[in-house]
Amino acid sequence: MIDFAGEDKDLDLALIKQLIDSIHIPSPPQLLLDLRELLQSEDADPEVIASMLGRDSALAAKTLTIVNSPLYKLKEPVSSIARAAVLLGPRIIQSAIISSAFREMVSGLIVEKSFLHEYWRHSLSVAEICKVVAERLHAANRSINSNDAYLMGLFHDAGMVVLMVKDNQYLQSILRSKALYENLANVEAEDSLINHADVAYFMSKSWGLSGDVRRAIRYHHGAQDALALSPAADSYLSILIIAEYLSVLYDEEQMFGLEFRSQQEIMAAMQRVNMSIVDLKKVQATLLDL
Ligand SMILES: [Fe+2]
Ligand SMILES: [Fe+2]
Repeated sequence: MIDFAGEDKDLDLALIKQLIDSIHIPSPPQLLLDLRELLQSEDADPEVIASMLGRDSALAAKTLTIVNSPLYKLKEPVSSIARAAVLLGPRIIQSAIISSAFREMVSGLIVEKSFLHEYWRHSLSVAEICKVVAERLHAANRSINSNDAYLMGLFHDAGMVVLMVKDNQYLQSILRSKALYENLANVEAEDSLINHADVAYFMSKSWGLSGDVRRAIRYHHGAQDALALSPAADSYLSILIIAEYLSVLYDEEQMFGLEFRSQQEIMAAMQRVNMSIVDLKKVQATLLDL
């Protein structure tokens, strides 16, 4: 059950919920809901996590792939899920489950192929860059977690898919925003559509993303409202703005990658997370190596 008190007071949740219900966006898989509470505790029993992960062979396999990736520099490959759960920790496992279930959910939706292709091209690129930027900033800002930053990038435009499933005409709004070089949120308002950032916020809440991340998602087109954000949520928002800028730098042809960030907005975001031009260049170098 989602708690709509406090942070959601000013959202037209009834309308967003009606929209999501009307197109039957699948909710998070039961396994994720069952594991959520368990994974939120840092001292969750790895044996219990492993037995729950074992209920889904694809997820169990994915967990092993992650732990055996070069990132973990293990001498011997790991074949036990319980051992993988110990090595990775609950947070990484939760992030892997959310990301894989979310991808599966979106690929099951009936949406125009070219749109979906562009959506993934943008979201995966932003997610990857969010992770790299967060890793770079983590040493100086411990409230930033790179797995959470990745999920933020993955979910931030999920509202577009929902709006697209509802009505193919939504593509016209996206194209118009691109042609006019206009913030998509403004075009959505003109076309009397729900803001995709609000829809993505709602989804990120039901999928269990952290409060700071989902608030950053909600404000990713309204930086002026971000003044009310907590320092951690503000850091995530800044990372998202920087990542969108970098993603366009490497892929100018993205359909909706350029969500119209002014130079001023990017500089302000960098300042808010104490990111220097040297840091930015280092992130760019890392991205070229990927
Ligand atoms: Fe975006
Ligand atoms: Fe967006």
